[in-house]
Amino acid sequence: TRAGQIRHFLDLDRFDTETLRRILDLGAAYKRGDHPFGTHKPLSGRMLAMIFEKPSTRTRVSFETGVKQLGGDAVVLSKGDTQLGRGETIPDTARVLSRYVDAIMIRTDDPRKLAELSEYATVPVINGLTDRTHPCQVMADIMTFEEHRGRLDGKVVAWVGDGNNVAASWIQAAAHFGCAIRLACPPELTPDSGVVAWARERGASVEIGTDPAAAVAGAHLVITDTWVSMGCADGNRHHLLSPYQVNEALMAKADPSALFMHCLPAHRNEEVTDAVMDGPQSVVWDEAENRLHVQKGILSWCLL
Ligand code: CP
Ligand code: NVA
Repeated sequence: TRAGQIRHFLDLDRFDTETLRRILDLGAAYKRGDHPFGTHKPLSGRMLAMIFEKPSTRTRVSFETGVKQLGGDAVVLSKGDTQLGRGETIPDTARVLSRYVDAIMIRTDDPRKLAELSEYATVPVINGLTDRTHPCQVMADIMTFEEHRGRLDGKVVAWVGDGNNVAASWIQAAAHFGCAIRLACPPELTPDSGVVAWARERGASVEIGTDPAAAVAGAHLVITDTWVSMGCADGNRHHLLSPYQVNEALMAKADPSALFMHCLPAHRNEEVTDAVMDGPQSVVWDEAENRLHVQKGILSWCLL
């Protein structure tokens, strides 16, 4: 099969660091208005299919806008509108979509669905979030940090709250980009142990505790995310997570240069206060904007 040569964008642990750096550089070039492939419509005639089994604002709009800005087009498939919703298998869907389109992005719950799609597709598959990881988001986060503060190497990143999919991709990023990561999570909501083991084997510093103040002390970047991710049963999560709110008192413990990030959507005055979201350390709007530029880097790497 051609599987070995297809440039899937599945997870950060599947890449060498130079390739991730190349994708970030492409994204930065597009943001500057450069044409790194020598033409302003390098994806002319190319079609991206996007399968959404969960809601999205940023991922959908940034991929659709990005592919169109590069001369391509996109078709959006929502779970309820496709035969996937009536039980057509992922392998059969992968085989059929591969006959029509040039790349497939999927947002789904079970990471095994992403793996299966990439196994049977004969075009690149892009991970638009699963319950396990969210690599496109973290690429945009890295771009945003480095625009404001320079290289991540040697920096300390604090993750506060649910040890979720975005946290997992950040842990993988730490192994590539030389930052230490300290997570403060309730013991019930610690990050994926396989991801943590992988990053530590690669030499990353990954500390996991339960004290937000300890995680944030001296950190150069403070990140949080919703307390109730898509598909989570709400249960007693608010009760578990209320000590993990990022507020001005917590931010004051970070390095004075620290930035605040949140992948959005935010639940204001739950995981983060208005004062922090709208405050001088917050770069959440740049972070959201950079989804667009990074998607163009990812699409270009996959297809050009
Ligand atoms: N951050 C993010 O992926 O946002 P959406 O769910 O709106 O795509
Ligand atoms: N952790 C969140 C991220 C949303 C972009 C979720 O999975 O819902």
